[in-house]
Amino acid sequence: MNTKDLSRLLDDNDPYEEMLNASKRRPRKTGRHPKQISKSDYEFLKEQDDSRKTFRFTYKAARFEEWWLTETLGAFYEHKWIGDVLKKVKVGKEASVYLCKPAREIDAPLLAAKIYRPSSLRSLKNVQEYRQGRADLDEEGHLLWKEADINAIVKRTKYGEEVRHTSWIAYEYKTMEDLFNAGADVPKVYAKEKNAILMCFIGDLTTAAPILNSVSLEADEAQVLFERVIHNIDLMLKHNCIHGDLSAYNILYWNGEISLIDFPQIVIPESNPSAWKIFQRDVMRVCQYFSAQGVECNPQKLAADLWTSHGHKIFKPLEPKDLDPEKAEDRKVWEKQK
Ligand SMILES: Nc1ncnc2c1ncn2[C@@H]1O[C@H](COP(=O)(O)OP(=O)(O)OP(=O)(O)O)[C@@H](O)[C@H]1O
Ligand SMILES: [Mg+2]
Repeated sequence: MNTKDLSRLLDDNDPYEEMLNASKRRPRKTGRHPKQISKSDYEFLKEQDDSRKTFRFTYKAARFEEWWLTETLGAFYEHKWIGDVLKKVKVGKEASVYLCKPAREIDAPLLAAKIYRPSSLRSLKNVQEYRQGRADLDEEGHLLWKEADINAIVKRTKYGEEVRHTSWIAYEYKTMEDLFNAGADVPKVYAKEKNAILMCFIGDLTTAAPILNSVSLEADEAQVLFERVIHNIDLMLKHNCIHGDLSAYNILYWNGEISLIDFPQIVIPESNPSAWKIFQRDVMRVCQYFSAQGVECNPQKLAADLWTSHGHKIFKPLEPKDLDPEKAEDRKVWEKQK
């Protein structure tokens, strides 16, 4: 089964249920396998279904999703990180996030499991732009050194795409771990598996923290949180990284505090030729939200001051073509400049 087939299965309602029912029915006269489930999909799923039999969870997942959760979160269960999956929090462009209960006492009452969709479904545009100047990482987060792996990535073979996918997730995990240890406002990460990251859940049993973009702030609080976000951007530069997709959509708000999330695309300032452009875009998107909350900010000056204070050089300013008209936060700037 390739990632395209897997993606299709993830998108279908419950193909596994359909497949099971189909297997009970008499074969059709045409002799074809019913619906889109091919025989190889059937064999693949039947084989996978036997694993991790004791992993049961409260969340009522559709049959295929249940298999998918067992596959991706089973190792967290086996290693006694999680004892239960309580609900699905959000289906994002790249990943789905589930609320989990820890299996033992740890310093987080609840955990968020971010499960990536198969790499073929990745919708983040210009992935290449982010990857420039960034060596790939293996599953353990170490630099890839095997020539065969590196060649496979360059040639974009099926195996290469898997390695690239692994590296993408390893970057998110490693960055969150490093930034948390450096005192940044990011959820603490606990464990990583091939296709999933386990981190502190921001919110409580009934409510997940909203994204900042859906929150209206009082002027005083807006000013304090704006400074906090800028402090985090500065801290990231100090630790040699740029978020790369920062905006009020990737900041959670809970109990008056912020948490920055969603780090797989981080950019390394010194080695990525687009770093200054990407950095300005992050600062501009943050300012876009906070100026709507009544905070006075000058994104160009702010970006330049932060950038040069870490010894980086300034190239040409951001142009409309560097913005993304499909992103709500860029659209206003885009329309103004058109
Ligand atoms: N640690 C967390 N605690 C609570 N909720 C979380 C946590 N991490 C992620 N979420 C929720 O899951 C959503 C998706 O997470 P994230 O942004 O990391 O993935 P994504 O696939 O890039 O999603 P999107 O396409 O929405 O940006 C977030 O917008 C947030 O609502
Ligand atoms: Mg996101």
